[in-house]
Amino acid sequence: MNFISLNTAATQAAVTPEQLAALRPQAEQALAHLNNADAPGNDFLGWLHLPSSVSDEQLTRIENIAARLRQDCEIVVCVGIGGSYLGAKAVIEALSDNFAAYKTNLPHVLFAGNNIGEDYMADLMNLLYGRRWGIIVISKSGTTTEPAIAFRLLKAQLERELSREWAATHIVAITDEHRGALRTLANEEGYDTFVIPDNVGGRFSVLTPVGLLPIAVAGIDIRQLIAGAVEAENAPDESMLQYAITRNALYQAGHKIEILVNFDPRLHFLAEWWKQLYGESEGKGGKGIFPASLDFTTDLHSMGQMIQDGERNIFETIITIEKQQQEVIVPEDEANLDGLNFLAGKRVGWVNRQAEIGTRLAHIDGGVPCININLPELSPRYIGQLLYFFEKACGISGYILGVNPFNQPGVEDYKRNMFALLDKPGYEAQSAQIKSRL
Ligand code: PA5
Repeated sequence: MNFISLNTAATQAAVTPEQLAALRPQAEQALAHLNNADAPGNDFLGWLHLPSSVSDEQLTRIENIAARLRQDCEIVVCVGIGGSYLGAKAVIEALSDNFAAYKTNLPHVLFAGNNIGEDYMADLMNLLYGRRWGIIVISKSGTTTEPAIAFRLLKAQLERELSREWAATHIVAITDEHRGALRTLANEEGYDTFVIPDNVGGRFSVLTPVGLLPIAVAGIDIRQLIAGAVEAENAPDESMLQYAITRNALYQAGHKIEILVNFDPRLHFLAEWWKQLYGESEGKGGKGIFPASLDFTTDLHSMGQMIQDGERNIFETIITIEKQQQEVIVPEDEANLDGLNFLAGKRVGWVNRQAEIGTRLAHIDGGVPCININLPELSPRYIGQLLYFFEKACGISGYILGVNPFNQPGVEDYKRNMFALLDKPGYEAQSAQIKSRL
């Protein structure tokens, strides 16, 4: 059985075997906390055995609704933010044609409610005008401001331009089973709905309908994705323990920033998903590895200098894709004005691989510890494995760090200020206070 693999050998100059061994008992205990559900956040562990508990019926229902949207719509707008957005975006980007947006493999899955950009909304609404489209609206709480604004606008447009009946059958809501404004509205309008389980937090929800429905609408095989995640769920925990131990050891040794690096542009949003997963899980109580990401070789021409030569406070986790799916050969050129004939006959992927190997060695020489995660290829199955690997390692890592990895109290502060500035009812006291600071 092929499996994603981890290699931490290139961190040895920064952390000794003794430092790693010292963290092993904490890591084993962290794993036990996950398995026994006996530590803070234990009511949010629904993701732990989620892959193996997804039923054939659940997948079939997701596939059937996705098929209806695919058949009827040119565009499906997925409304959501944070954990209700990033997983679907990450998987769709990782497993789609780089230029899907410019090709005719309809429908296109677009995203809204993940920002409050006015021009973004106006451009999107203009694009949708005169087309057949639908909406997947995702919000666990049903009250998050960004998606609520986008959904209010898009729902009104869909009903106005394509009819209320069309909207009722081409809006799908994914939300809490019983509570929240979105649940009430969905019940009233008769939308198809899916449930975000109570015990699965947003950033751990990619393998629930939150991720699976948009991913299926994009034409990606969700059964393979789940099959990969099940493989990771059933695999030995050693690689997850090792990743969690190594990054905590590096953190303790002063490497406070982790950069997730790819050499394939399709992984850009996988890193965005990973940043939320680790940032929101670990950044607490004045602690936490700062998760950053870079797309190589692109960013070697912008951030490469900083990585190679700046303050030695970073470490790198490189995702290697071992096999490209398509072959592009550098051609011979008679004039050879660009001097590139030494590459003639070589695959572009081979050139990229040499860039990766060279970069890794340069960074190791420059004092950047490197962790490697290898994927045999970019496929639903390996992405499924990778998602689960990162989730479980994140739970272990957070407990090693001594935080509750499953809450996010810090994200409320900006909301409180924003609501006060927006004169939201109930925020009168904060409103006067914050406006006095302007
Ligand atoms: O991970 C999280 O919990 C958050 O990022 C949420 O997913 C995000 O804030 C959106 O919340 P909701 O789904 O309630 O609209």
